[in-house]
Amino acid sequence: MSTIIAPSILSADFSHLADEVKKITEAGAEYIHIDVMDGNFVPNITIGSPVVKSLRKFSDAIFDVHLMVEHPETQIKNFADAGADIITFHAEATNHAHRLIQEIHELGCKAGVAINPGTSLSMIEELVEYAEMILIMTVNPGWGGQKFIESMLGKIHMLYHMVQEMETDCDIEVDGGINAETSVDVREAGANILVAGSAIFGAEDVAQAIKDIRGKEIIHHHHD
Ligand code: DX5
Ligand code: ZN
Repeated sequence: MSTIIAPSILSADFSHLADEVKKITEAGAEYIHIDVMDGNFVPNITIGSPVVKSLRKFSDAIFDVHLMVEHPETQIKNFADAGADIITFHAEATNHAHRLIQEIHELGCKAGVAINPGTSLSMIEELVEYAEMILIMTVNPGWGGQKFIESMLGKIHMLYHMVQEMETDCDIEVDGGINAETSVDVREAGANILVAGSAIFGAEDVAQAIKDIRGKEIIHHHHD
């Protein structure tokens, strides 16, 4: 299983977003992770769908939109129309996660479901076979540059086993505090899509930072 790197533009220079998006695309990022915050689900307000739309022409990478918003059902069409490829909402933000996954699919996008560090896997267990991706937050959402929460490794590993047992195809994305060191641990635990903001945009050489986070391939041995 090869690792996909998703630079989070939250740590980019917002006054030169198009250049930043071009830079990470040329540096080998497969995904562009776009953090949408509404000032309610999390305190800050960041990027809306018009910004996503205007960035779309600067990159062919997969646009991985992470909605940290209340009432995500009211937002998905705007982001799908703006050019999102994957739309991830928080399980904590809706009572109708299963329906929302279907609606995202109807809009022609892949669906992801995110859970905060304090939320149990049981909240998304019934969704694993429907969603293309589960996002395990490894910091509390709202800010870039926070410290990786070590105890999330167990959760990632449990989800990895859950996905294997269900014999379904579901990517495991991690987000928060990912750098060349924590990358090794989360990949060993079973994550295959790694979001990184400050570790990529804070580096002198962005391509090298992406390589360092991707690391050497990890072979998973299955024990029954
Ligand atoms: C946090 C966001 C993350 C953030 C990660 O709320 O969802 O995507 O940008 O930033 P780093 O990699 O700096 O922890
Ligand atoms: Zn994110």
